[in-house]
Amino acid sequence: MAERTNRDKKIPLHTGIIMDGNGRWALSRGMPRALGHKAGMEALEKTVDNAHSLGIRYLSLYAFSTENWKRVPVEIEALMGLFRLYLKNKIEKLHSRGARIRFVGKLEAFAPDILEGVRYAEEYTGGNTEIDIIICVNYGGRQEIVDAVNRLMVDPPGGPVTEELLRSRLYAPDIPDPDLLIRTGGEFRMSNFWLWEGAYSEYYFTDTYWPDFGMKELERALESYAGRERRYGAA
Ligand code: IPE
Ligand code: IPE
Ligand code: MG
Repeated sequence: MAERTNRDKKIPLHTGIIMDGNGRWALSRGMPRALGHKAGMEALEKTVDNAHSLGIRYLSLYAFSTENWKRVPVEIEALMGLFRLYLKNKIEKLHSRGARIRFVGKLEAFAPDILEGVRYAEEYTGGNTEIDIIICVNYGGRQEIVDAVNRLMVDPPGGPVTEELLRSRLYAPDIPDPDLLIRTGGEFRMSNFWLWEGAYSEYYFTDTYWPDFGMKELERALESYAGRERRYGAA
């Protein structure tokens, strides 16, 4: 991997990305939406390398939301096919780069062979410490909070529910809250991403469709982040 740079700059420890715009990228080229998702997967691969070389320690990527099941079956199938391809072909490379990969979301919705691939990838890369890659699939921030509440109901704390307690029942409580959330594709919304964890995240929006998102754009986002003052409500 490339030498890490920008050590002197303020780098977000955890950067999250809402990878939006695959469909429009494809349609603008007269291609089917599925090819946009394929190009999006390649952008994801490059972004992992770019994020690592810029010194990002945790990178979370919103790949499939709890609401994305509303899409037509042929598109869902294409996305599941890419998920399988990713698990089959991309894990070795991630491992060789020292990346630990984790999948976050309501995973039980996926087919058994996908779940098997997920388990294998997480175990195989579990000891790596260069960068954590968190792929959010069948993830929804509201669902995550509802699941946390249900976990508390099954195993009641015997006292009041605090923020710390609820947080401890979220999907991945050990991952630090995102410092920077990037959304590509020109929309200005969260679409149910990191609702709890993103309470004090900084946002960066770009019109660039996800498949066109590269190093320059990531650097621009980090530059914007480095220039901000985070106050967390203090004066
Ligand atoms: C993001 O791209 C990928 C997923 C939501 C799976 P879209 O498929 O939402 O692309 P647009 O927004 O329709 O262009
Ligand atoms: C957000 O994109 C979800 C992912 C990128 C996985 P969507 O395309 O689903 O969001 P909306 O529908 O425009 O809000
Ligand atoms: Mg979209």
